[in-house]
Amino acid sequence: MMTYTADKDRYDGRMNYRRCGKSGLKLPEISLGFWHNFGDIDDLGEARAIMHRAFDAGVTHFDFANNYGPPPGSAETNAGAILKQDFSQHRDELTISTKAGYHMWDGPYGEWGSRKYILSSLDQSLNRLQLDYVDIFYHHRPDPDTPLEESMGALATAVISGRALYAGISNYPAELAVKAFKILRDMGVPCLIHQPRYSLLDRWIEDGLTDTLIEEGVGCITFSPLAQGLLTDRYLKGVPENSRAAKESGFLQRSEVEQEISKVIALNEIAQERGESIATMALAWTLHHPAVTSTLIGASSVKQLEENLQALKSPAFSKAELLKIDQALKG
Ligand SMILES: NC(=O)c1ccc[n+]([C@@H]2O[C@H](COP(=O)([O-])OP(=O)(O)OC[C@H]3O[C@@H](n4cnc5c(N)ncnc54)[C@H](OP(=O)(O)O)[C@@H]3O)[C@@H](O)[C@H]2O)c1
Repeated sequence: MMTYTADKDRYDGRMNYRRCGKSGLKLPEISLGFWHNFGDIDDLGEARAIMHRAFDAGVTHFDFANNYGPPPGSAETNAGAILKQDFSQHRDELTISTKAGYHMWDGPYGEWGSRKYILSSLDQSLNRLQLDYVDIFYHHRPDPDTPLEESMGALATAVISGRALYAGISNYPAELAVKAFKILRDMGVPCLIHQPRYSLLDRWIEDGLTDTLIEEGVGCITFSPLAQGLLTDRYLKGVPENSRAAKESGFLQRSEVEQEISKVIALNEIAQERGESIATMALAWTLHHPAVTSTLIGASSVKQLEENLQALKSPAFSKAELLKIDQALKG
């Protein structure tokens, strides 16, 4: 197998790094997510090439969760082997995150927000990733039945015990997020970051969460900025065979593609007028929001990653373009 030598010019200005809230940590504007494309069902040669290309482009943040695959856990196991083989000497240049919250193993302790689940899940993730610590450890979703103090207490223990450097939360609505921030602050482990879904097709965070994050000095990394591929040219001529919507995996539904495609076509026209692809416009648009630290993409090929990285060179949005985008989204 070929050995990997990182591009020595990877920090020559090709990537911008933004401060994460009021913390000392900077994140690349584009981060790489491992939800899909790194599982046992995927082409691991391509997966390895995606990691190499990303790092060479200055993408210093890789995002995992316990359940990424499929099967659950396999993304951490597969990428963990690649991290060990190719990135050991770059560990201190990488911000690696993982999460616990969704179903991971059977029985009463395999999901949600108990201390029992969260801390054993982190230990399992560290084993699979072959790492001593992760940089960011998230509670993946709020648990309506566990006291928030318990879930946040588990995150604080993860940090205080050295298994994680920072704590984060994901999918928390604004009001609950504020409570979580206070609990974490009181425990001496300020929340670094919130990870919500955000794209041209899902703007829920603009309704209170982003203002809260700015006020609280908490960073924001937006997931599914391409709406799982819908905001690219992938579905402009129907649903191609190897696409996420064709896989019937229950993540991106064909019906969602059919429902949204007229907006995508209108957005594509605006992107073309701007001289770029709809994917790069969609990514640049998420980065245009002042609350956003980084936008978290997925890619099933190096080619997709290459296109997505072009978002770093997107022209600034004029007021007229932003209005046109809002108009296109009204359908
Ligand atoms: N915290 C949470 O609850 C949560 C939830 C979801 C995701 N996430 C995180 O966010 C990351 C990104 O989520 P996502 O994968 O949904 O992000 P996304 O960037 O919206 O979608 C990625 C998918 O879109 C397609 N794609 C990407 N670039 C393309 C291009 N240039 N041209 C055509 N198609 C393209 C590919 O799908 P094909 O398979 O069709 O090629 C790719 O796998 C995840 O990996 C994970 O780390 C977090």
